[in-house]
Amino acid sequence: MIKLTPPMGWNSWNTFGEAINEKLIRETADRMVEAGLLDLGYEYLVIDDCWSLKERDGQERLVPDPEKFPSGMKAVADYVHSKGLKFGMYSCAGNLTCAGYPGSFEHEFIDAETFAEWGVDFLKYDYCYHSPIIHGKYLYRRMGLALENCGRDILLSACSWGSDETHEWIKQTGASMWRSTGDIFDTWESVKDLTRQQEKLHPYNGVGCFNDMDMLIVGMYGNGNVGLKGCNDEQYKTHYSIWALMGSPLMIGCDIRSMNEATRAILGNKELIAIDQDPACRQMVKLSGILAGDDLLLYSRQLSNGDLAIGLFNMGEEAAEAKFNLDELGLGFSTGKTLEMHEVWGKGDFRVVNSTVSRKLDPFACEVFRAKVVDL
Ligand code: GLA
Repeated sequence: MIKLTPPMGWNSWNTFGEAINEKLIRETADRMVEAGLLDLGYEYLVIDDCWSLKERDGQERLVPDPEKFPSGMKAVADYVHSKGLKFGMYSCAGNLTCAGYPGSFEHEFIDAETFAEWGVDFLKYDYCYHSPIIHGKYLYRRMGLALENCGRDILLSACSWGSDETHEWIKQTGASMWRSTGDIFDTWESVKDLTRQQEKLHPYNGVGCFNDMDMLIVGMYGNGNVGLKGCNDEQYKTHYSIWALMGSPLMIGCDIRSMNEATRAILGNKELIAIDQDPACRQMVKLSGILAGDDLLLYSRQLSNGDLAIGLFNMGEEAAEAKFNLDELGLGFSTGKTLEMHEVWGKGDFRVVNSTVSRKLDPFACEVFRAKVVDL
């Protein structure tokens, strides 16, 4: 077990796509430390697809593109480690990666050894161009086994987008996280869509193997590889809150070298990070709420110290009222208990007096509470 709470870090794909190089990685490593992101728990710096040459070398080994990474990967890894960060890389269970670079199919063990030699701590393992006759569970088991025999602790981050019933077999493979959704894009529709896709998969989240809702788009504002329309800060806050409340890995996807104050503040919400990282990693409960239309999403999660994390999300374009009864949380009137509600974005604290909570939410807005069980 390499990581018992959801992994946190930064990944190159959302903003940079194939435009990656060692200067970017070094600068990002510097910034992760200077901006206090490492101290907050963002510890993995991950290079996604497009880092290698299109051909393997004479010994069948993967070769870093010398134009992008002239010092070689070991030197890049050493630099990342010198900052106190962990170093992540990317490969694929198919013949090719999603962007058409060599994949690890039939090279699983040699690639795992290569990654270990370079000092890799994290491997994102994609699912493009995979064999049509070998089931995904075997392909991920192979890499899981290869990593466990490579002589180094390397976290396996599976990326088969929830396809082929990933949730049924992913825990067999040794993966510490698994993509439970398709790819994110920097639009509000994408956030809504991935949140919905996730709902039926909550029962599969748990300690040591986390449902990965994909990298964060917070702070992208429409720039970069998956940029598209972009979102506003209210929408990014809601997106971040959902990912944290659901216990997803938190992998930053914006260019942190130029992030603004608002982005830094969202990514640095310590109370949400504590909810995301709660050691019990319990499953999410979807609340029915009272007259909650389709655009209102209400969730709660029981935390390890007995508190409840409660999130109210207005995914719609109109203001809406989120209302629910404490009965839904296991706190019927006869229990003699109620909740002291503390809102993690500073939107107000209160005590529930008549067993119903009712909050007005602006369009796209959320409120997330850490609620303490107290005597009525
Ligand atoms: C897939 C993955 C993405 C990214 C790209 C790289 O689409 O889901 O997260 O890694 O491949 O090509």
